[in-house]
Amino acid sequence: MCGIVGAVSERDVQGILLEGLRRLEYRGYDSAGMAVIGGDHSVQRAREVGKVASLADVMKANPLSGHLGIAHTRWATHGEPSQVNAHPHMSGNRLAIVHNGIIENYQELRQELRDDGFEFTSQTDTEVVAHLIEKNYRTLGNLHDSVRAAIARLRGAYALAVVHSDEPDHLVVCREGSPLVIGVGIGENFIASDQLALLPVTDRFMFLEEGDIADIRKDSVTILDREGQAVEREVTRFEHGADSADKGEYRHFMLKEIYEQPRVIKATMEGRVTKTRVLEQALGTEAENLLDNVRHVQIIACGTSYHAGMVARYWIEELAGVPCSVEVASEFRYRKHVIQQDTLFLCISQSGETADTLAALRQAKKAGFRAALGICNVPGSSLVRESDLVIMTQAGPEIGVASTKAFTTQLTALLIFTLALARHNGLPEEKETEIVEAIHRLPGQVSDVLALDGEIAEMSKAFMDKNHSLFLGRGSQFPVALEGALKLKEISYIHAEAYPAGELKHGPLALVDSEMPVVTVAPNNDLVEKLKSNLEEVRARGGELFVFADKLAGVKPEEGIHVMQLPSVHPITAPIVYTVPLQLLSYHVAVLKGTDVDQPRNLAKSVTVE
Ligand code: G6P
Repeated sequence: MCGIVGAVSERDVQGILLEGLRRLEYRGYDSAGMAVIGGDHSVQRAREVGKVASLADVMKANPLSGHLGIAHTRWATHGEPSQVNAHPHMSGNRLAIVHNGIIENYQELRQELRDDGFEFTSQTDTEVVAHLIEKNYRTLGNLHDSVRAAIARLRGAYALAVVHSDEPDHLVVCREGSPLVIGVGIGENFIASDQLALLPVTDRFMFLEEGDIADIRKDSVTILDREGQAVEREVTRFEHGADSADKGEYRHFMLKEIYEQPRVIKATMEGRVTKTRVLEQALGTEAENLLDNVRHVQIIACGTSYHAGMVARYWIEELAGVPCSVEVASEFRYRKHVIQQDTLFLCISQSGETADTLAALRQAKKAGFRAALGICNVPGSSLVRESDLVIMTQAGPEIGVASTKAFTTQLTALLIFTLALARHNGLPEEKETEIVEAIHRLPGQVSDVLALDGEIAEMSKAFMDKNHSLFLGRGSQFPVALEGALKLKEISYIHAEAYPAGELKHGPLALVDSEMPVVTVAPNNDLVEKLKSNLEEVRARGGELFVFADKLAGVKPEEGIHVMQLPSVHPITAPIVYTVPLQLLSYHVAVLKGTDVDQPRNLAKSVTVE
C-alpha cells in the first residue's frame, strides 16, 4: 500500500528518489521520507508529513547528497500519519529501512526488542524490523545475512529495502507478499514497488519471486532465493511504449484516463477479435483446455474490479449459460465455501497486487478450484504470475486513484472471454458475430459520449451543494449504477448509494426529496419500460432525476427530469458506454467542489495490505 524506491549509482540519487516517489504517490501519500548514505558514510534522513511535494520543498533547502539511498511514500496502517511514523525508520544511526506491507507479529517482536534494550520512537511495525536487523548485525556483521535472519522471524506481507552505513556500497531488498521490482541500469541499479517509479531511469526490470533476497550494487545484482541459493531472474523490457505517468495537457490524471478510453478499449480488443469472431487462441495456449467443461464461474475482486465482475455475471449467464457467482475478495477469503465441480476461478484486478484478491486466489488453488484465470492490467504483477491463464487489459498505467479506464478495459476483456466461453457452450455463430461487431463499435461510441463532456460539466453544477445522491440501474446497468456511485463518493465525498431500480420502493424511496438528486442510466433494453415506472415513482415524491438515456428509450425531459441522450448501443455492450458519463459527472462535481481528484483523502490506488 505504500511505495518504496531505492537507488545505488555513480550519480547523486536524491533526484531519482524524489521522482520515483512522485510516481508512487498513488500507493499512499500521507507522509514521505528518504535516507541517503553520504560521502562520510553517515545516514542522512528527511521525513515530512503530507505529500511528496512537501518533502521535496524541505529537501530543496536541505538537500541530501549521496550515491546510495532509499525512499518511501506512506499510507498509514500502524500509527497515525506523522513525522515519527514516516519512513525510513532507523535503528541507531547506522541502519535505515523502508517497508511496504504489514508485519503481523510485530507486537511480540517489539516486546522482545525492548527487553534487549532497543528504544522505539514510532508506533509502526516497520521500526521493529529495523531493530531486529540491527540486532542481528551486531553478531553477524553482514547486512545480507542480518536481513535473512530477521525475515525468518517475520509473519505477514512485506517488501523491504535496507541500507547500513558500514556497507555504503549496496542495499539489500527482499519481498514476501508485497511487490518489488529491480530496475537495471548502466553503472547504477534501482528498486521500487512498481516499475512506473523507475521509468525515467530505465526500461529494464527484474521481478523478484516470493522469498527472494537481493543485494543491489551499482554494477551488480545478486539474488538468492528462500533457500539461500543464487538464482537468476529474467530481465524484461517495459512494455507500454509511452510513459503514461504524465498528465500531458489534462488538468488531472483522472480526466486524461477517461479520455484515453476509446484508445485503450481498442488496444484491449486488438489481436483478440477478428471482424466477426473471437480468436480464442489469442487468450492463451491454455485457453481451449481451460474453457472446456466449465460448469460454473466464481469471480473474485475488490472495488471497481468487483463491479466489472458483477457486469460479467450478467454476460456469462446470458451468453454462455454458465452459472456465475461474484464476491468481494475480503468476504470470500474468510468463509467456508461449497466448491461446485468444474468451477473456473476468475480474479479481476487492475494492479494484480490487491492483497485480498491474491489471498483469495491462493486459497482457491489450495481448495481445489479447477483453474485460475486472471484479468489484469499490470504485466509481471503477482496475479499475472500466479494465474493459470491471464487476459491482460491494455489500459496502460492508471494513476488516478478513482479507476476509470481500467474498468472499461476489464469489461472489454471480460466480454471477449465470455464469448469464448459461450462458444464452448453452444452460442450460435451469428450471435457471436453480432456481439463482436458491437465490440468494434465501442471506441466510437465512447468518443461520442466524451463529446458530451461540456453538457455533463453543466449538469454537475446541480450536485455541488448536495450531501446525498442515489444511483439507479436495472439488470447489467445495476453494477454501472454502483460504479457511478462509487466514483462520486470517492472523489467528491458526496454520499452516493446505488440501488437496483426495482428495490426503490423497499426503502430508499423514503429518502427521496428535492435535496437528493437521483441519477439513472437508461439504455434501450427490455427493462426500460420498467425503469420508466421507477422514475415516475421518484418524480411523484419531488425527486430530481438525471437520466442518461438511449435516444430510442423514450425518456422525455420534463419537470424534474433532466435527460442526456446517449448513442444507441447494443444492450450487451451498453454497460461499457453508460459508465463513461457517470465518470465525467463525478469528475466535474469533484472539480467544482475543489477536492483532490487524483488523490482523494484516505484512499490509495493499490491496496497491498489486508
Ligand atoms: C483500491 C482502488 C480502486 C480499485 C481497488 C481494487 O480500492 O482505489 O480503484 O478498484 O483497489 O484494485 P485492483 O487493483 O485489484 O483492481
